[in-house]
Amino acid sequence: MTITEAIKQVRARSDQQLAETTRRPSMFIQTFGCQMNVRESEKLHGLLLEMGYSLSPSEKEADLVVYNTCSVRESAENKVFGKLGYLKAYKAEQPGKIIVLCGCMPQRESVMEEIRRHHSHIDIIFGTYNKHHFPQLLFEHLTHGQPVVELLNEHSQIPEEAFDGQTTRFSPHKAGVTIMHGCDNFCAYCIVPAVRGRERSRPSQDILTEIEALAADGVREVMLLGQNVNSYGRGLSESISFADLLVKINAISEIRRIRFMTSHPKDLSDDLISAIRDSEKVCKHIHLPMQAGSTQVLERMNRGYTKEGYLQLVDRLRAKLPNIAITTDIIVGFPGETEANFEDTLDAAQRANFAGAFTFLYSPREGTPAADFDDEISKEIADARFRRLLDIMNPMQLEYNRQYINKVVEVMTDGKADSSGTGRFTGRTGDNLLVHFESAIEVKPGDCVMVEITECKTFYMKGRVV
Ligand code: SAH
Ligand code: SF4
Ligand code: F3S
Repeated sequence: MTITEAIKQVRARSDQQLAETTRRPSMFIQTFGCQMNVRESEKLHGLLLEMGYSLSPSEKEADLVVYNTCSVRESAENKVFGKLGYLKAYKAEQPGKIIVLCGCMPQRESVMEEIRRHHSHIDIIFGTYNKHHFPQLLFEHLTHGQPVVELLNEHSQIPEEAFDGQTTRFSPHKAGVTIMHGCDNFCAYCIVPAVRGRERSRPSQDILTEIEALAADGVREVMLLGQNVNSYGRGLSESISFADLLVKINAISEIRRIRFMTSHPKDLSDDLISAIRDSEKVCKHIHLPMQAGSTQVLERMNRGYTKEGYLQLVDRLRAKLPNIAITTDIIVGFPGETEANFEDTLDAAQRANFAGAFTFLYSPREGTPAADFDDEISKEIADARFRRLLDIMNPMQLEYNRQYINKVVEVMTDGKADSSGTGRFTGRTGDNLLVHFESAIEVKPGDCVMVEITECKTFYMKGRVV
């Protein structure tokens, strides 16, 4: 059965339910993990709308609950297991409730074992390689009432093309666009290559067509998504680099802002730096995960660069783009990290002078090389280092934000700050800072306004429209 046929069949059932009970079946989708998962949830949401489902305000009331899951750290998986526990009770009260588990977690055998043992109440399970089969799997479940599990270990086709046409999204004016799948970098700590498979770029024409459709549908900002966008184009039959792709997207007239993540430091070319500089819609912000500042740790992480190499790259970026905001990811407590190694991280972070950072405690992931390293750091030491890192990163971020005090910056509006109906809004600067601002004039999501900054905090700024 094709996707289209499955959608039609499920839709007919939903319409029939509407006719009989005066209400459509309802859905609730919760997303864990990265932007890529958020984008895939949007597409599942779009498919469910097509299949005649309505939105439910909560997982308790919904007829169908989707958990789109993440495996990057143990805490992300534990959240989902906790949720599944709650759902067991809801399902006892509402036996027809359909529970769907998808995303990265089901790709892990250890997770599936746990599910088989303790979570037999899940109705539909699929993974990252076959998310576009959802309509068929739902139809199968509705028809037979039995649990449906479909897990693949590789891509039979690039899913996005079968997903295509889904311009549904959670935000009216912003959309993520997946430009590549998978990852070939095999950082020693990371589960992503195991749950997302090998790196594959989407043909540029498919990406441009998707963005043109989004633009025609009101999108003003796109976030290009991939685990390592700098290597975009590798393995395609056309000859195209990420820099070339940025230039092409820059030419789509309704799009006002272009963002991208994530950039791997080892693949950041001078051509790309020039393309960021010369494409006026590309935000002058780069998320460039450093992970660690110690060459010894970086080597054991298999990151492919040294402390000096990273800092030279930061200099190369700032030589062409003096005002670029550089944000980063840092992992604390990687196996074998010594006090001296950690001090190298503090030193590198200070020298790189980041605009912001996501900091993580190392979490061993079964099946990755680092999980077998036998020199784990104690929790006490890791926690203490984590706090010391934050004591440096938070003031650094505040200092970055302070450059804007009393200045006027362009902010793209995300919407009303609260439901009070007064003129308080939120939005983002080009370098992705959150701004709460007052406006006497009406502004809509996606509108760009000039805001004078009156107050700077670590995680947001305040201002008023001028
Ligand atoms: N492809 C992106 C990262 C995706 S995962 C990149 O390379 O930048 C997002 C972040 O999670 C990583 O940058 C890393 O800092 C963190 N991370 C990944 N695996 C982790 C683990 N096992 N423990 C703690 N943090 C981890
Ligand atoms: Fe994970 Fe490294 Fe790939 Fe990022 S580049 S997804 S950290 S393996
Ligand atoms: Fe998590 Fe999968 Fe993204 S493991 S970070 S949701 S690719």
